[in-house]
Amino acid sequence: MARIGIFGAGYVGLVTGACFADLGHEVVVRDVLPERIERLQAGEMPIFEPGLDEVLERSRDRISFTLDVREAVDGAEFLYVAVGTPPTVSGDADLSAVWTVVDELPDDVQGRPLVVMKSTVPVGTGARVRARLDARGLGNVGYVSNPEFTAEGTAVRDFLEPDRIVIGAFDEADGAAVEQLHAGIDAPVVRADVSSAELIKLAANAFLVTRISFINEIANVCELVGADVTRVAEGVGLDKRLGPHFLRAGLGWGGSCFPKDSLALKQLAANSGYHFQLLNAVIEVNELQKRRVVQKLQQRLGSLRGRTIAVLGLAFKPNTDDMREAPSRVIAHRLIAEGAEVRAWDPVARPVDLEGVEICDSILAAVRDADAAVIVTEWPELRELTTPEVREAMARPLIIDGRNFLDPGVVVAAGFEYEGIGRPTLATPGGVNGNPQPEPDRELQS
Ligand code: UGA
Repeated sequence: MARIGIFGAGYVGLVTGACFADLGHEVVVRDVLPERIERLQAGEMPIFEPGLDEVLERSRDRISFTLDVREAVDGAEFLYVAVGTPPTVSGDADLSAVWTVVDELPDDVQGRPLVVMKSTVPVGTGARVRARLDARGLGNVGYVSNPEFTAEGTAVRDFLEPDRIVIGAFDEADGAAVEQLHAGIDAPVVRADVSSAELIKLAANAFLVTRISFINEIANVCELVGADVTRVAEGVGLDKRLGPHFLRAGLGWGGSCFPKDSLALKQLAANSGYHFQLLNAVIEVNELQKRRVVQKLQQRLGSLRGRTIAVLGLAFKPNTDDMREAPSRVIAHRLIAEGAEVRAWDPVARPVDLEGVEICDSILAAVRDADAAVIVTEWPELRELTTPEVREAMARPLIIDGRNFLDPGVVVAAGFEYEGIGRPTLATPGGVNGNPQPEPDRELQS
């Protein structure tokens, strides 16, 4: 069993650390945030990630947390880098936290520890880290790229039962050592040079967002021609060459990875002299997709000035409290800019920076007197949205389903107006739900 130091106690570092400890390795997780380390030492979990608590509990005697670099480095054969690489103003990845880790390695590191890059970094970072280590006289420290492919909410399973393990190394033996570290995980291993491993990560995320933006554009075409994108996606996805995944149309992708990584690849290509046309379009489609919800509301309600809109779900996807680049941010701010009053509900996310948005404790409180409710995140709780209480509480029982989460027939039968993304509208029992006519503008009326 190996000894592993992990730099960064965020989502990636904690999942990586806990899972390696679960595999039987000795792990020391180091972070610079005293409060975070104190909480971890006290047995508290600073992030919401299903299953992580249990894994940590199981391996508590093999994992420790520290602020001290030495503690993480001493005796470690692997030094995993799992720090944040957020976008800079230019859209490039900010590698300052990565450089801090490299520069903080003690000058007298003994043996051949391997710096293993888990953070998502631009292609070429490995070569730069190698050069920096060499310049410091740390030629004995190896470097390996081992990108992560875990998704929030399923990170533990994704780590322990991955589709593949990607390992890019300058030195054959270093790559083999990282492969050996994963013994106990049953998955194909892709061994590559460092640049290719770095690009695999960015290309995989770019391909996933391309699929989502593609199906979102198909959804927009569906709305014009009267087709149903959920059926189209099903029919397309059953082609084995295409597969069913990441074909859920909706109001766009967000999160801590897709927006950042797609932008980073776009800028990486541009910095290398290549205009990545397709990726540019994929990103732009996503920007516009979030705004379509606002247009749908305007088509139904006319001006949104003075209207109350319930935003249901804030996190960028269910089973996480992560609000980074969540589509709910853009939607809430656009609604406020249009003069609407915005009430929001989320079972977990409690953002403190959504100015002007009233955060409600229950779905019922959020929809009370609302002119419409928008499903932004498909939390399971929303399956039960179309109750008589909700219908009666709303000023107008209109549901815009930004995730095609509900069954339109059931919603309409329960007495609600319903509009999804790329789905034909259905007639409501009490009137016509399709081709909606805008209501007269409230402001103009008064
Ligand atoms: C994503 C990737 O799925 C992981 O493989 C990758 O390792 C990770 O980024 C990363 O780079 O660290 P994550 O951001 O946690 O994981 O979330 P996803 O479940 O992929 O969802 C991302 C966004 O896409 C969400 O806003 C979701 O609502 C949206 N989405 C996803 C769709 O709109 N349609 C789909 O069909 C799938």
